Amino acid sequence: MRVHVADHPLITHKLTVLRDKTTPSPTFRALAEELMTLLAYEATRNVRVETVTIQTPVAETQGLAISSPRPLVVPILRAGLGMLEGMVKLIPTAEVGFLGMVRNEETLQPETYAERLPDDLSNRQCFVLDPMLATGGSLIAAIDFLFARGAVDVTAVCLIASPEGLEAVEAATEGRDVTIVLGALDEKLNDVGYIVPGLGDAGDRLYGTV
Ligand code: URA
Repeated sequence: MRVHVADHPLITHKLTVLRDKTTPSPTFRALAEELMTLLAYEATRNVRVETVTIQTPVAETQGLAISSPRPLVVPILRAGLGMLEGMVKLIPTAEVGFLGMVRNEETLQPETYAERLPDDLSNRQCFVLDPMLATGGSLIAAIDFLFARGAVDVTAVCLIASPEGLEAVEAATEGRDVTIVLGALDEKLNDVGYIVPGLGDAGDRLYGTV
């Protein structure tokens, strides 16, 4: 597993505002989207491309274009939705699939409650969006799901991760082509599964406590 922690003052600045508990939902949503766009630049570094021949107004030339099948972007509902626009802004030709997972607050285990993905993901590059890599449970379940459908490589983009969550994902995905792109790697998980210092519940901060 490859892990890339973004190291850029703009990302750190935006994350600091995002973490602040006084930041209201509209600002939080805008920042999550902007952060995703910045992280998408890094996450798509190895997006597959093919050589194409085009005609400029002056001459024929060759260039690179994103190849088929198109990359698949999979936000994990609900908080991953807050990152979707930021991703497709940068890679508008990507297809979007959905995976709904909720954490059982007693067992801390993920439960899948919705799925809208192609049946066959063979040869697809998949980008999973999940803002908080906490215990790693939902991300591991999502990655397993995509590989079971034939995906060949998965890149997960998270705003913040815990060291415990990263370790769990690494152990569960050994031997697979998995990349994790992070805005920040925080200190730890607390005993109720929240990232410390983190930013609280990303879904609630994006959408309210429904
Ligand atoms: N999910 C969140 O939204 N925040 C955390 O800190 C952990 C899991």
